Amino acid sequence: MPARRVAVILGSVRKDALSRRAARALIAMQPPTLNLELVEVGDLPFYNQELETASPPAPWTRFRDALKDVAAVIFVTPEYNRGVPGAMKNAVDVGSRPWGKGVWEGKPYAVVSTSPGPLGGYSANHQLRQNLSYFTMFLMHQPEMYLGTIDKLVDANGQVTDDKARELFAQFLTQFAAWIERCHIRAG
Ligand code: FNR
Repeated sequence: MPARRVAVILGSVRKDALSRRAARALIAMQPPTLNLELVEVGDLPFYNQELETASPPAPWTRFRDALKDVAAVIFVTPEYNRGVPGAMKNAVDVGSRPWGKGVWEGKPYAVVSTSPGPLGGYSANHQLRQNLSYFTMFLMHQPEMYLGTIDKLVDANGQVTDDKARELFAQFLTQFAAWIERCHIRAG
């Protein structure tokens, strides 16, 4: 069976993002059964129904095309003011339209949140889950990935420098690969 394509959506728009470290670590550690692809959200214009014409903004189309045929999605998000950064919420909105043709329906997913602080972006993680609860998606609940002090766990090259964190990343990827198979079998 070919590797399952998985979109890794990064909720930070900055080049040196700490959350980018987590996304890079997941990609570096992916098992052969998965093919993780980083998807950026920084160039997406704010969602505006007036732009939802036969020719929507090119970055919207690029984003929707990147998501359309993947088997699953991993959202990697920092936390802004105890919530989801606007760029990530905007990406959820862009992916949800046009009505009836959204990219989220039927996909297994997991949320990874990061922070240089101790709480690991818990609030952003759960706010994003609430946004996504509108869609028929399949959330992997465990292991939970609230990655506090992320700058101490993963270096700027995406190498995990902490043994416990490495174990958690590996467990997360193994379980997510299995979760994708369970969801797709159920979906027929
Ligand atoms: C933050 N930061 C932050 N951290 C946190 O753990 N909880 C929070 O609610 C917030 N709020 C917040 C708001 C704003 C506007 C900024 C700019 C920052 C700190 C944040 O975790 C830190 O800047 C991260 O480095 C941002 O993520 P990236 O871009 O490095 O992935």
